[in-house]
Amino acid sequence: MPEPAEAGGAGADLELACGGRRLRFPAIWLRDNCPCAECVAPGTRQRLNDITDIPNGLDITLTEDTGDSVAVTFAPDQHRSVFSRSWLAGHALDGYADGDGRTEDDKELWLPAGLAEVPETNWPRYLDEPADRARALAAVLRLGFVLLRGVPAEPGAVLEVAASFGFVRETSYGRLFDVRVEHAPGNLAFTSRAIRPHTDNPYRDPVPTVQLLHCLRAAGEGGDTGLVDGFAAAAAFRGMDAGSFGILAKTPVPFGYADKAAELRACLPLIQLSPRGRVRGVRFNNRSARPLRLPVAEVGPFYAAYRRWAELLAQPGRQLKLRLAPGDCLVFDNTRILHARTAFSVTAGSPGRHLQGCYADLDGLASTLAVLERAEGP
Ligand code: OGA
Ligand code: ZN
Ligand code: ZN
Repeated sequence: MPEPAEAGGAGADLELACGGRRLRFPAIWLRDNCPCAECVAPGTRQRLNDITDIPNGLDITLTEDTGDSVAVTFAPDQHRSVFSRSWLAGHALDGYADGDGRTEDDKELWLPAGLAEVPETNWPRYLDEPADRARALAAVLRLGFVLLRGVPAEPGAVLEVAASFGFVRETSYGRLFDVRVEHAPGNLAFTSRAIRPHTDNPYRDPVPTVQLLHCLRAAGEGGDTGLVDGFAAAAAFRGMDAGSFGILAKTPVPFGYADKAAELRACLPLIQLSPRGRVRGVRFNNRSARPLRLPVAEVGPFYAAYRRWAELLAQPGRQLKLRLAPGDCLVFDNTRILHARTAFSVTAGSPGRHLQGCYADLDGLASTLAVLERAEGP
Protein backbone atom coordinates (compact mmCIF):
# COMPACT_ATOMS: atom_id res chain seq x y z
CA MET A 1 0.00 0.00 0.00
CA PRO A 2 1.43 3.40 -0.89
CA GLU A 3 1.46 5.94 1.92
CA PRO A 4 -1.49 8.33 1.76
CA ALA A 5 -0.42 11.65 0.33
CA GLU A 6 -0.62 14.80 2.35
CA ALA A 7 -2.29 17.72 0.62
CA GLY A 8 0.24 18.90 -1.92
CA GLY A 9 1.83 15.49 -2.32
CA ALA A 10 1.28 12.61 -4.69
CA GLY A 11 -0.30 9.22 -4.07
CA ALA A 12 -3.44 7.21 -4.36
CA ASP A 13 -5.31 9.09 -1.61
CA LEU A 14 -6.08 12.67 -0.73
CA GLU A 15 -5.60 13.42 2.93
CA LEU A 16 -7.13 16.57 4.25
CA ALA A 17 -7.48 18.42 7.52
CA CYS A 18 -11.10 19.46 7.82
CA GLY A 19 -12.54 21.19 10.91
CA GLY A 20 -10.23 19.32 13.28
CA ARG A 21 -10.71 16.00 11.50
CA ARG A 22 -8.32 14.27 9.16
CA LEU A 23 -10.26 12.97 6.21
CA ARG A 24 -9.03 10.58 3.58
CA PHE A 25 -10.42 10.15 0.10
CA PRO A 26 -9.12 7.49 -2.33
CA ALA A 27 -8.30 8.76 -5.82
CA ILE A 28 -10.81 6.44 -7.47
CA TRP A 29 -13.60 7.73 -5.25
CA LEU A 30 -12.70 11.35 -5.98
CA ARG A 31 -12.54 10.71 -9.68
CA ASP A 32 -15.88 8.92 -9.71
CA ASN A 33 -17.39 11.95 -7.98
CA CYS A 34 -15.69 14.60 -10.10
CA PRO A 35 -18.26 17.38 -10.61
CA CYS A 36 -16.73 18.83 -13.81
CA ALA A 37 -18.81 19.20 -16.96
CA GLU A 38 -16.94 16.34 -18.65
CA CYS A 39 -17.92 13.99 -15.85
CA VAL A 40 -21.42 15.20 -14.91
CA ALA A 41 -24.13 16.61 -17.16
CA PRO A 42 -24.69 20.15 -15.86
CA GLY A 43 -28.49 20.08 -16.19
CA THR A 44 -29.42 16.69 -14.82
CA ARG A 45 -26.43 16.15 -12.50
CA GLN A 46 -26.20 12.65 -13.97
CA ARG A 47 -22.85 10.98 -14.39
CA LEU A 48 -21.58 10.81 -17.95
CA ASN A 49 -18.95 8.12 -17.40
CA ASP A 50 -19.16 4.50 -16.44
CA ILE A 51 -16.66 2.98 -14.06
CA THR A 52 -14.82 1.40 -17.01
CA ASP A 53 -14.30 4.86 -18.57
CA ILE A 54 -12.15 5.86 -15.58
CA PRO A 55 -8.48 4.87 -15.94
CA ASN A 56 -7.47 2.01 -13.71
CA GLY A 57 -4.61 2.54 -11.23
CA LEU A 58 -5.22 6.28 -10.71
CA ASP A 59 -2.76 8.42 -8.78
CA ILE A 60 -3.02 11.96 -7.56
CA THR A 61 -0.06 13.88 -8.93
CA LEU A 62 -0.93 17.36 -7.70
CA THR A 63 -3.13 18.78 -4.96
CA GLU A 64 -4.00 22.48 -4.83
CA ASP A 65 -5.71 23.55 -1.64
CA THR A 66 -7.21 27.05 -1.65
CA GLY A 67 -9.05 26.62 1.64
CA ASP A 68 -12.57 26.75 0.23
CA SER A 69 -11.79 24.26 -2.47
CA VAL A 70 -9.38 21.48 -3.23
CA ALA A 71 -8.23 20.60 -6.76
CA VAL A 72 -6.62 17.29 -7.56
CA THR A 73 -4.88 16.28 -10.78
CA PHE A 74 -4.81 12.61 -11.66
CA ALA A 75 -2.29 10.41 -13.42
CA PRO A 76 -2.29 8.91 -15.96
CA ASP A 77 -4.58 11.31 -17.84
CA GLN A 78 -4.01 14.69 -16.13
CA HIS A 79 -7.76 15.09 -15.45
CA ARG A 80 -8.30 17.83 -12.89
CA SER A 81 -11.20 17.79 -10.43
CA VAL A 82 -12.22 20.60 -8.11
CA PHE A 83 -14.20 19.90 -4.94
CA SER A 84 -15.53 22.33 -2.40
CA ARG A 85 -14.18 21.65 1.05
CA SER A 86 -17.66 21.71 2.53
CA TRP A 87 -18.80 19.06 0.04
CA LEU A 88 -15.85 16.86 0.98
CA ALA A 89 -16.56 17.36 4.69
CA GLY A 90 -20.18 16.41 4.11
CA HIS A 91 -19.17 13.23 2.33
CA ALA A 92 -16.47 12.02 4.73
CA LEU A 93 -15.71 8.32 4.40
CA ASP A 94 -16.13 7.53 8.06
CA GLY A 95 -18.93 5.00 8.20
CA TYR A 96 -21.52 3.10 6.29
CA ALA A 97 -24.58 4.63 4.74
CA ASP A 98 -27.47 2.27 5.32
CA GLY A 99 -29.01 5.28 4.20
CA ASP A 100 -32.33 5.20 2.37
CA GLY A 101 -34.34 6.17 5.44
CA ARG A 102 -36.13 2.85 5.48
CA THR A 103 -34.44 1.04 8.38
CA GLU A 104 -35.24 1.13 12.08
CA ASP A 105 -32.38 3.63 12.52
CA ASP A 106 -34.30 6.35 10.72
CA LYS A 107 -37.60 5.71 12.47
CA GLU A 108 -39.16 6.67 15.75
CA LEU A 109 -40.20 3.33 17.20
CA TRP A 110 -43.30 3.44 19.39
CA LEU A 111 -45.52 1.69 21.81
CA PRO A 112 -49.02 3.15 22.14
CA ALA A 113 -48.36 4.22 25.74
CA GLY A 114 -45.35 6.28 24.65
CA LEU A 115 -46.97 7.93 21.67
CA ALA A 116 -47.52 11.58 22.56
CA GLU A 117 -50.40 11.84 20.13
CA VAL A 118 -51.86 10.10 17.13
CA PRO A 119 -50.42 11.86 14.07
CA GLU A 120 -53.43 13.31 12.30
CA THR A 121 -54.69 16.21 10.30
CA ASN A 122 -57.76 17.01 8.27
CA TRP A 123 -58.09 16.72 4.56
CA PRO A 124 -58.96 20.34 3.65
CA ARG A 125 -56.02 21.61 5.64
CA TYR A 126 -53.71 18.95 4.20
CA LEU A 127 -54.70 20.08 0.71
CA ASP A 128 -54.42 23.81 1.45
CA GLU A 129 -51.23 23.96 3.45
CA PRO A 130 -48.03 22.45 2.06
CA ALA A 131 -46.46 22.55 5.54
CA ASP A 132 -49.33 20.51 6.94
CA ARG A 133 -49.02 18.04 4.09
CA ALA A 134 -45.29 17.76 4.77
CA ARG A 135 -45.95 17.08 8.47
CA ALA A 136 -48.44 14.35 7.61
CA LEU A 137 -46.13 12.63 5.13
CA ALA A 138 -43.18 12.93 7.50
CA ALA A 139 -45.27 11.15 10.13
CA VAL A 140 -45.74 8.18 7.78
CA LEU A 141 -41.96 7.92 7.36
CA ARG A 142 -41.14 8.53 11.03
CA LEU A 143 -43.98 6.81 12.91
CA GLY A 144 -45.34 4.63 10.12
CA PHE A 145 -48.81 6.14 9.82
CA VAL A 146 -51.01 9.20 9.71
CA LEU A 147 -54.76 9.61 10.12
CA LEU A 148 -56.44 12.01 7.70
CA ARG A 149 -59.85 13.11 8.86
CA GLY A 150 -62.56 14.70 6.80
CA VAL A 151 -61.81 12.97 3.52
CA PRO A 152 -65.21 12.99 1.75
CA ALA A 153 -66.91 9.68 2.59
CA GLU A 154 -67.47 8.98 -1.08
CA PRO A 155 -66.49 6.00 -3.18
CA GLY A 156 -63.14 6.52 -4.86
CA ALA A 157 -61.93 9.30 -2.55
CA VAL A 158 -59.18 7.00 -1.28
CA LEU A 159 -57.59 7.20 -4.74
CA GLU A 160 -57.37 10.97 -4.43
CA VAL A 161 -55.60 10.59 -1.11
CA ALA A 162 -53.03 8.25 -2.70
CA ALA A 163 -52.61 10.61 -5.66
CA SER A 164 -51.94 13.50 -3.25
CA PHE A 165 -48.55 12.01 -2.32
CA GLY A 166 -47.72 9.42 -4.93
CA PHE A 167 -49.08 6.85 -7.30
CA VAL A 168 -51.78 4.28 -6.78
CA ARG A 169 -50.30 0.79 -6.91
CA GLU A 170 -52.81 -1.06 -9.02
CA THR A 171 -52.93 -4.76 -8.23
CA SER A 172 -54.98 -7.79 -9.17
CA TYR A 173 -57.61 -6.37 -6.78
CA GLY A 174 -57.90 -3.32 -9.02
CA ARG A 175 -57.02 0.30 -8.29
CA LEU A 176 -59.02 0.11 -5.08
CA PHE A 177 -60.81 -2.57 -3.11
CA ASP A 178 -63.97 -2.56 -1.02
CA VAL A 179 -63.89 -3.97 2.49
CA ARG A 180 -67.43 -4.91 3.48
CA VAL A 181 -69.34 -8.04 4.31
CA GLU A 182 -69.90 -10.17 1.23
CA HIS A 183 -72.14 -13.17 0.79
CA ALA A 184 -69.41 -15.39 -0.67
CA PRO A 185 -66.25 -13.82 0.74
CA GLY A 186 -63.00 -14.64 -1.02
CA ASN A 187 -61.10 -13.16 1.90
CA LEU A 188 -61.54 -12.96 5.65
CA ALA A 189 -61.54 -9.17 5.27
CA PHE A 190 -64.95 -9.42 3.59
CA THR A 191 -66.65 -10.92 6.63
CA SER A 192 -67.52 -9.37 9.99
CA ARG A 193 -64.88 -11.40 11.82
CA ALA A 194 -61.96 -10.00 13.74
CA ILE A 195 -58.68 -9.82 11.82
CA ARG A 196 -55.49 -10.09 13.84
CA PRO A 197 -52.52 -7.81 13.24
CA HIS A 198 -51.03 -8.47 9.83
CA THR A 199 -49.35 -6.84 6.88
CA ASP A 200 -51.13 -6.91 3.54
CA ASN A 201 -50.22 -8.79 0.39
CA PRO A 202 -47.06 -10.59 1.60
CA TYR A 203 -47.46 -12.73 -1.52
CA ARG A 204 -46.40 -9.83 -3.73
CA ASP A 205 -42.80 -8.90 -4.41
CA PRO A 206 -42.37 -6.00 -4.38
CA VAL A 207 -45.00 -5.75 -1.67
CA PRO A 208 -47.14 -2.60 -1.73
CA THR A 209 -45.24 -0.42 0.72
CA VAL A 210 -48.07 1.97 1.58
CA GLN A 211 -51.65 1.02 2.39
CA LEU A 212 -54.66 3.29 2.69
CA LEU A 213 -57.94 2.44 4.41
CA HIS A 214 -60.77 4.94 4.10
CA CYS A 215 -63.96 4.60 6.10
CA LEU A 216 -67.17 5.27 4.21
CA ARG A 217 -69.48 3.79 6.85
CA ALA A 218 -68.60 2.58 10.33
CA ALA A 219 -70.06 -0.51 11.98
CA GLY A 220 -72.77 -0.09 14.60
CA GLU A 221 -70.57 -1.83 17.10
CA GLY A 222 -67.00 -3.12 16.76
CA GLY A 223 -64.90 -2.95 13.63
CA ASP A 224 -62.27 -0.94 15.52
CA THR A 225 -58.80 -0.65 14.05
CA GLY A 226 -55.56 -1.66 15.73
CA LEU A 227 -52.03 -0.71 14.65
CA VAL A 228 -48.78 -2.32 15.80
CA ASP A 229 -45.31 -0.92 15.19
CA GLY A 230 -43.58 -3.96 13.69
CA PHE A 231 -40.14 -2.33 13.85
CA ALA A 232 -40.49 -1.59 17.57
CA ALA A 233 -41.61 -5.19 18.05
CA ALA A 234 -38.68 -6.53 16.01
CA ALA A 235 -36.18 -4.47 17.99
CA ALA A 236 -37.69 -5.81 21.23
CA PHE A 237 -37.63 -9.35 19.86
CA ARG A 238 -33.95 -9.07 18.97
CA GLY A 239 -33.19 -7.84 22.50
CA MET A 240 -35.19 -10.64 24.08
CA ASP A 241 -34.31 -13.60 21.86
CA ALA A 242 -31.57 -12.89 19.34
CA GLY A 243 -31.52 -16.53 18.21
CA SER A 244 -35.18 -16.55 17.20
CA PHE A 245 -34.82 -13.13 15.62
CA GLY A 246 -31.94 -14.49 13.51
CA ILE A 247 -33.98 -17.50 12.41
CA LEU A 248 -36.87 -15.30 11.23
CA ALA A 249 -34.52 -12.93 9.44
CA LYS A 250 -32.89 -15.79 7.51
CA THR A 251 -35.74 -18.18 6.76
CA PRO A 252 -37.60 -17.61 3.49
CA VAL A 253 -41.32 -18.13 4.04
CA PRO A 254 -43.55 -18.83 1.07
CA PHE A 255 -46.71 -16.76 0.80
CA GLY A 256 -49.34 -17.24 -1.80
CA TYR A 257 -52.72 -16.10 -3.02
CA ALA A 258 -54.90 -17.51 -5.73
CA ASP A 259 -58.28 -16.63 -7.13
CA LYS A 260 -59.87 -16.98 -10.57
CA ALA A 261 -57.66 -14.36 -12.14
CA ALA A 262 -54.47 -14.38 -10.07
CA GLU A 263 -51.82 -16.78 -8.82
CA LEU A 264 -49.31 -14.94 -6.68
CA ARG A 265 -46.27 -16.17 -4.80
CA ALA A 266 -43.41 -14.60 -2.90
CA CYS A 267 -40.93 -16.35 -0.66
CA LEU A 268 -39.27 -13.99 1.80
CA PRO A 269 -38.34 -13.81 5.49
CA LEU A 270 -40.79 -12.52 8.10
CA ILE A 271 -38.20 -9.99 9.24
CA GLN A 272 -36.24 -8.34 6.48
CA LEU A 273 -32.83 -6.83 7.25
CA SER A 274 -30.82 -4.20 5.42
CA PRO A 275 -27.39 -5.11 4.03
CA ARG A 276 -25.97 -3.88 7.36
CA GLY A 277 -28.29 -6.08 9.39
CA ARG A 278 -30.82 -3.46 10.49
CA VAL A 279 -34.58 -4.08 10.47
CA ARG A 280 -36.02 -2.84 7.18
CA GLY A 281 -39.30 -4.68 6.77
CA VAL A 282 -41.76 -7.09 8.33
CA ARG A 283 -44.15 -9.49 6.63
CA PHE A 284 -46.73 -11.10 8.84
CA ASN A 285 -49.87 -12.78 7.59
CA ASN A 286 -50.54 -16.38 8.50
CA ARG A 287 -53.67 -16.43 6.34
CA SER A 288 -51.60 -16.43 3.20
CA ALA A 289 -48.58 -18.44 4.38
CA ARG A 290 -47.92 -21.59 2.33
CA PRO A 291 -46.20 -24.80 3.45
CA LEU A 292 -42.64 -24.12 4.46
CA ARG A 293 -39.90 -25.93 2.59
CA LEU A 294 -36.93 -26.34 4.89
CA PRO A 295 -34.44 -29.01 5.86
CA VAL A 296 -36.43 -31.04 8.37
CA ALA A 297 -34.10 -30.21 11.27
CA GLU A 298 -34.87 -26.50 10.86
CA VAL A 299 -38.64 -26.83 11.01
CA GLY A 300 -39.00 -27.11 14.79
CA PRO A 301 -36.71 -24.17 15.58
CA PHE A 302 -38.47 -22.04 12.93
CA TYR A 303 -41.92 -22.72 14.40
CA ALA A 304 -40.68 -21.99 17.93
CA ALA A 305 -39.28 -18.66 16.76
CA TYR A 306 -42.44 -17.87 14.75
CA ARG A 307 -44.65 -18.57 17.76
CA ARG A 308 -42.58 -16.29 19.99
CA TRP A 309 -42.69 -13.53 17.40
CA ALA A 310 -46.47 -13.91 17.03
CA GLU A 311 -46.90 -13.82 20.83
CA LEU A 312 -44.86 -10.65 21.06
CA LEU A 313 -46.80 -8.97 18.24
CA ALA A 314 -50.07 -9.89 19.96
CA GLN A 315 -49.14 -8.28 23.29
CA PRO A 316 -52.07 -5.98 24.09
CA GLY A 317 -49.74 -3.11 24.97
CA ARG A 318 -48.40 -3.05 21.43
CA GLN A 319 -51.69 -2.32 19.72
CA LEU A 320 -52.80 1.25 19.20
CA LYS A 321 -56.59 1.29 19.12
CA LEU A 322 -58.43 3.61 16.80
CA ARG A 323 -61.97 3.79 15.61
CA LEU A 324 -62.34 5.00 12.07
CA ALA A 325 -65.33 7.25 11.55
CA PRO A 326 -66.78 8.00 8.12
CA GLY A 327 -64.30 10.25 6.33
CA ASP A 328 -61.25 8.97 8.21
CA CYS A 329 -58.46 7.68 6.03
CA LEU A 330 -55.51 5.86 7.51
CA VAL A 331 -52.26 5.94 5.51
CA PHE A 332 -49.61 3.54 6.74
CA ASP A 333 -46.30 1.89 5.94
CA ASN A 334 -47.16 -1.69 5.03
CA THR A 335 -43.53 -2.78 5.44
CA ARG A 336 -43.60 -1.76 9.10
CA ILE A 337 -47.07 -1.33 10.61
CA LEU A 338 -49.35 -4.29 11.20
CA HIS A 339 -53.05 -3.55 11.09
CA ALA A 340 -55.97 -5.34 12.67
CA ARG A 341 -59.67 -4.95 13.31
CA THR A 342 -62.10 -6.21 15.88
CA ALA A 343 -65.19 -8.18 14.93
CA PHE A 344 -68.29 -6.14 14.29
CA SER A 345 -72.02 -6.58 14.37
CA VAL A 346 -74.11 -6.78 11.26
CA THR A 347 -77.64 -5.49 11.56
CA ALA A 348 -80.19 -6.85 9.13
CA GLY A 349 -81.46 -4.10 6.88
CA SER A 350 -78.76 -1.56 7.75
CA PRO A 351 -76.17 -0.79 5.08
CA GLY A 352 -73.25 -1.95 7.26
CA ARG A 353 -69.57 -1.15 7.62
CA HIS A 354 -67.79 -0.14 4.44
CA LEU A 355 -64.14 0.76 3.94
CA GLN A 356 -62.29 1.34 0.72
CA GLY A 357 -58.61 0.65 0.48
CA CYS A 358 -55.83 1.02 -2.00
CA TYR A 359 -52.07 0.66 -2.15
CA ALA A 360 -49.25 3.04 -3.00
CA ASP A 361 -45.52 3.19 -2.36
CA LEU A 362 -43.08 4.79 0.02
CA ASP A 363 -40.66 6.00 -2.65
CA GLY A 364 -43.30 8.29 -4.14
CA LEU A 365 -44.35 9.49 -0.70
CA ALA A 366 -40.75 10.24 0.31
CA SER A 367 -40.16 12.04 -2.97
CA THR A 368 -43.26 14.21 -2.54
CA LEU A 369 -42.11 15.10 0.97
CA ALA A 370 -38.58 15.93 -0.23
CA VAL A 371 -39.95 18.23 -2.93
CA LEU A 372 -42.24 19.94 -0.40
CA GLU A 373 -39.28 20.46 1.91
CA ARG A 374 -37.20 21.77 -0.96
CA ALA A 375 -39.95 24.29 -1.74
CA GLU A 376 -40.14 25.40 1.90
CA GLY A 377 -36.38 25.92 1.89
CA PRO A 378 -34.08 26.36 4.85
C1 OGA B 1 -57.75 -5.28 4.94
C2 OGA B 1 -57.98 -5.23 6.37
C3 OGA B 1 -59.18 -4.14 8.07
C4 OGA B 1 -60.54 -3.61 8.38
O1 OGA B 1 -58.72 -5.12 4.19
O2 OGA B 1 -56.58 -5.45 4.54
O3 OGA B 1 -57.15 -5.67 7.08
O4 OGA B 1 -60.60 -2.72 9.23
N1 OGA B 1 -59.10 -4.63 6.78
O5 OGA B 1 -61.51 -4.08 7.80
ZN1 ZN C 1 -14.20 15.48 -14.29
ZN1 ZN D 1 -55.29 -5.99 5.85
